[in-house]
Amino acid sequence: PAAVDYQAEDARVYYARFAANHSGFTGSGFIDYDNAQGGAIEWTVTTAAADIVFRFANGSGEARIAAITVNGTVVEYAFFPVTNGWSDWRTLTVHATVPAGTTKIRATAITKTGGPNIDKITL
Ligand code: GCU
Ligand code: CA
Repeated sequence: PAAVDYQAEDARVYYARFAANHSGFTGSGFIDYDNAQGGAIEWTVTTAAADIVFRFANGSGEARIAAITVNGTVVEYAFFPVTNGWSDWRTLTVHATVPAGTTKIRATAITKTGGPNIDKITL
């Protein structure tokens, strides 16, 4: 089946906000986490998949880490590496069984630096 994009700006967010102040995003913008532990993006998806592809930018000096959950179960602690500035968007693939039906996918920042900027997920 064709891959489906789910924009971060269409998801629910916690301790994070819509932004469009760096170029290269898809859709209308991206989500910028607080620089704090616990910020989250939660997508509700309706696509079965074996991978979740995160499009992100991380212009900070170190990797940002997020716990990726599918219907509340952690599937990976994803390391988002440093990119060449905040307008350099790359993808990170997380292998996860996303079942058919309605599924909640959440990316929660687990260190005090917060998460990377997130443009979208594709699955
Ligand atoms: C900068 C940048 C933001 C980013 C933030 C961060 O403020 O402009 O887009 O989210 O750094 O360190 O998380
Ligand atoms: Ca941020």
